[in-house]
Amino acid sequence: MSAFGQDVDAVTLHAVDPLDRGQDRLTQGWHRVYQRALQETYGSTAAGWSQEEVRVQFTHQEYERRAAWAAVRDDAVVGHAQLILFVADNTHFAKLHVAVDPAYRRRGIGSALLRVLEDAARAAGRTVLVGHSDVLFGHDDPAAGFAESAGYARGQANLRSDLLLPPRRDLEAELGASSADYELLTSWGEIPGDWLEQRARLAAHMSTAAPRGDVDVQEERWNVERARRVRRTMLDQGRQVVETVARQRQSGLLAGYTTLVVPAGRPELSLQWDTFVLSEHRGHRLGLHLKVANLLALHHALPAVERVVTWNAAENEPMRRVNRAMGFVPVGHHTEWQKAFT
Ligand SMILES: CC(C)(COP(=O)(O)OP(=O)(O)OC[C@H]1O[C@@H](n2cnc3c(N)ncnc32)[C@H](O)[C@@H]1OP(=O)(O)O)[C@@H](O)C(=O)NCCC(=O)NCCS
Repeated sequence: MSAFGQDVDAVTLHAVDPLDRGQDRLTQGWHRVYQRALQETYGSTAAGWSQEEVRVQFTHQEYERRAAWAAVRDDAVVGHAQLILFVADNTHFAKLHVAVDPAYRRRGIGSALLRVLEDAARAAGRTVLVGHSDVLFGHDDPAAGFAESAGYARGQANLRSDLLLPPRRDLEAELGASSADYELLTSWGEIPGDWLEQRARLAAHMSTAAPRGDVDVQEERWNVERARRVRRTMLDQGRQVVETVARQRQSGLLAGYTTLVVPAGRPELSLQWDTFVLSEHRGHRLGLHLKVANLLALHHALPAVERVVTWNAAENEPMRRVNRAMGFVPVGHHTEWQKAFT
């Protein structure tokens, strides 16, 4: 029995603090189980957080509070759990993740970790818990039986889609046909000061713009400080960030934005972050033009990137149409699982 937790089939549960250097071995093992579970699905194209990126997330907890636990057996970490609590909004909500080493599954370790997460979420006054799972098309999702047996229901079905680079040549021509009413402006790194305020407002709209099915989320509260800090966290993680915005020439208003990131140590991989166009500016193909302009900027500056990965709600037909036009191909399911406490 450990000082931190309970025995499950000779397994002890430990709280993990990735910022405590004295726990480096525990943290490494905790992260390895998470990474292995992702690689089990996507192999070398898995797109998770590196250990260093997670460490930076734990140093920036202004908007998301984090807690972690590891299941340890015979001095080796065999289970991973993490809880994320939103601070500025969605204070009814908690995100969680559980992963168990494949050799130790079906022994109750996942359930024990889940109980610790649920107890911590309840103690923090949260009433809605959301986890997620990933599976390639044509495979069984090991999380489905687990989540359902623990009382979670499918909240939102998303798709992962991948685009192989270099970009198709005709994409540049597509950009030539963009609306003369808007200018497309691209920047790297920090969000430029002269559009920071508008960009923060767009991020708030974005937080509820994409379909979330039954997942019980409320609009996030964004301001200049939050937009700046969230970007800073990414940059502190060593991520390269490129963003394109569409600015209406006549009014100077930002109509939309899109963001791509390239993680440190993964020069071959880019992750498509948000893409958003305000509803009153839709219908001008801005979504496609934003994404194409941003992709071409990425490709010219970082030609080593071979693959862009994106996630969309399965029913988000406008976004999926843009992705199809760019050459993205759906490769797997990303399911959000939700449980509400009464
Ligand atoms: C999902 C996961 C964490 C389950 O871990 P685990 O330690 O095997 O879970 P448990 O042993 O506590 O399983 C509890 C119950 O869940 C159900 N369950 C778990 N895995 C299952 C599977 N592959 N098929 C069907 N039911 C399953 C069963 O009812 C099981 O009880 P039983 O073994 O007595 O029948 C593990 O498969 C995993 O790491 N998957 C990859 C990461 C992931 O998708 N995490 C997201 C979770 S939301």
